[in-house]
Amino acid sequence: MQRKLIENTKAAFRKAFHTEPEHLFLAPGRVNIIGEHVDYNDGFVLPAAIDKYICFAVKKENDSDICTFFAADLDQFFSFNTKEKQVPVEKQWANYLLGVFNAIQESGRDTGGLRIAFSSTIPMGSGLSSSAALECGFAYILNTLFDLRLSKSEMALIGQKSEHTFVGVNCGIMDQFASVFGKENKVIMLDCNSLDHHYYDAKLEGYAWVLFDSCVKHTHLTSGYNDRRRDVDKGKEVLHKKFPQVQKFRDFTLAMLEECREDMGAVPYIRCRYLLKEIRRVEQAVQALSESRPEELGRLMNETHNGLSREFEVSCEEIDFLVEETQKEKGVLGARMMGGGFGGCSINLIREDSVEDITGKISKKYQDRFNIQMKIYSVKISDGIQEYTSDEHIQS
Ligand code: GLA
Repeated sequence: MQRKLIENTKAAFRKAFHTEPEHLFLAPGRVNIIGEHVDYNDGFVLPAAIDKYICFAVKKENDSDICTFFAADLDQFFSFNTKEKQVPVEKQWANYLLGVFNAIQESGRDTGGLRIAFSSTIPMGSGLSSSAALECGFAYILNTLFDLRLSKSEMALIGQKSEHTFVGVNCGIMDQFASVFGKENKVIMLDCNSLDHHYYDAKLEGYAWVLFDSCVKHTHLTSGYNDRRRDVDKGKEVLHKKFPQVQKFRDFTLAMLEECREDMGAVPYIRCRYLLKEIRRVEQAVQALSESRPEELGRLMNETHNGLSREFEVSCEEIDFLVEETQKEKGVLGARMMGGGFGGCSINLIREDSVEDITGKISKKYQDRFNIQMKIYSVKISDGIQEYTSDEHIQS
């Protein structure tokens, strides 16, 4: 499948620029096992890069400062001058790239002209972080071809900054970090406060990670994501005022939160309560994963869904239906919505020998209920962004 993506991207480059590309890069999407909405709240998350990618075919300009992109899947071009200051534009996909460029330019680094064609196997608006792959892929290309000496963390942070400044989504660092730091067959336990991270085996003997795509599309620019962040900030302000000795949000206890309940109001309280419980759940999940206790991990995933749906309120009818029906099935250890929410995918931990049977059943029920054909992705946990140099580096 990656080979097909690479060939298609190369062909798109030739069609757009009438010459051969000199470099190919692959930037992956991500899954998240557990730890939702805690990445902008001093929490821990457990994401991994997957074998769905944006592929970039690239050629450096010799005597031009212009960067030209061809978005092959949209059949659209966009250009800008690398010697000029950039501002957000109307074409939304271009803002992810311009924001990256702007952050690099503001750091005092110099780049030059490029021709880039890109194409993707990461479905857009499905909660698999196609935007982080786009941002970090471009940061990685600039870093490699202009020898900018950015660290991997800096590239992830530049991707996040692009979302904040040029796209308008106040996201956390999880998606960009996973796209850059992914490792084959490993999940990343990331401390979103310090960016310390550790890798754990993703494989649970006899079980598979399966994604169900509700095909309900979302963009976090309008989804309610930024509102959730505002609710939480309100709650945090009250907590920090009452307990100034506590530095990090994750160090507040539920008892402290309780004491602030009246002052912060019902909505910030319920959001913060979900978050404090979720941060603890991730620590328990890592323990369960490292001790190969899949049942416990599944139980925690189910709890997360409950919190996301009822307390953080970022699920939707379709996803709730998918998750609740999946949880009822024998052979399912855990099911929950994944990512920012308001649509997108659920992530499910299912016994390997039950996957076919269960996906068939859920797919039919979903079709009957909503008249939507859900999509099923059996993803492999893969390496992070890389320059593609030979077929050996590509899985399947
Ligand atoms: C989106 C954001 C991430 C994170 C998740 C929810 O994917 O981009 O930073 O907040 O939602 O966990």
